[in-house]
Amino acid sequence: METKIYSLNEEKIDTNIIKEAGDVLKKGGLVAFPTETVYGLGGDALNPDSSKKIYAAKGRPSDNPLIVHISNLKALEKIVKDIPEDALKLADKYWPGPLTMIFNKNDVVPKETTGGLETVAVRMPSNKIARALIDASGGYIAAPSANLSGRPSPTVAKYVIEDMDGRIDIILDGGESDVGLESTIVDFTEGKPMILRPGFITQKMLEEALSEKVEWDRAIIDADSKTPPKAPGMKYRHYAPKGELVIVEGNKEDVIKKINELTNADKNNNLRTGVIATEETKDYYCADLVKSAGHKDEEGEVAHHLFRILREFDEENIQKMYSESFKSDGVGAAVMNRLLKAAGHQIIKV
Ligand code: TXA
Ligand code: MG
Repeated sequence: METKIYSLNEEKIDTNIIKEAGDVLKKGGLVAFPTETVYGLGGDALNPDSSKKIYAAKGRPSDNPLIVHISNLKALEKIVKDIPEDALKLADKYWPGPLTMIFNKNDVVPKETTGGLETVAVRMPSNKIARALIDASGGYIAAPSANLSGRPSPTVAKYVIEDMDGRIDIILDGGESDVGLESTIVDFTEGKPMILRPGFITQKMLEEALSEKVEWDRAIIDADSKTPPKAPGMKYRHYAPKGELVIVEGNKEDVIKKINELTNADKNNNLRTGVIATEETKDYYCADLVKSAGHKDEEGEVAHHLFRILREFDEENIQKMYSESFKSDGVGAAVMNRLLKAAGHQIIKV
């Protein structure tokens, strides 16, 4: 299949391109598009064949459900059985934005879209290209991140093209994603709201909006938890660079010393080495490639750069990578969740 690639400016959207892409979605085709979190690989969420095509294009296990993207609250009523009061509070505060909520689905949503589940994940993105596309497509776009299954999520169109060229109809290039990590997922189907995937909307932000404690799915936090995570996608190795990644945790000087020792040993074994460093430490490493993810205490900056850096290490054929560790509250919780998964939970404490 030949994939058409169009560049769009969020502030001055070419409506002809949006119409063409919307028509492709209505006919059951696939369109990758920018969102404020990461790029999505979109198909008509209410068409079971479109969802099957999404799984095929990504090489994704079909028990891993898709997020349905909408552009207004009215659209939510048509696809879910009930909307809890708390969900409305969160929608009021954080939609449109990087928050996904899970509801009991009704019959218009096919099982192919929800990986066989009776529940459906819904998000209202803020990116204007995404919103225009949703409106042009009939209102419901199922979209996982636009990477091949298991690879880091794309935050620029270049990496969507790398993974999806020839597999889908259209790629819309809307520049770099603002947030850089996928949305926070909150489940509402078991009574109390529960975080299934950490993201830019933090636990504290959710608790402030709801004036109550919001729990985490324990399976996300504990590497060796025996219960599978409630979001099926969280159980797969994910975000994985081609080389091996190890996180080194400890105070600044010890971490630098340890990473330099390890990279020197790797170099003696003829391995190409890389380090995910910070602005404060980047000059102290002796690896072949050192990349700063931002300032140590600015987890939002680190979130923005992380997936792109993992892809860049692949482009440079880095075989062994080390990353500093980050504070694990606030957005840092999302950063550490993705880093740990990318590293297959390999962490050295010094
Ligand atoms: O920011 C995002 O959420 C991006 C952009 C494109 O919107 N999308 C995204 O989709 O990250 P994906 O498919 O890569 O991740 C969706 C996650 C998976 O872990 C999946 O298992 C979980 O959401 N999920 C989807 N529907 C669910 C459901 N009904 N119950 C539990 N987990 C669900
Ligand atoms: Mg994904």
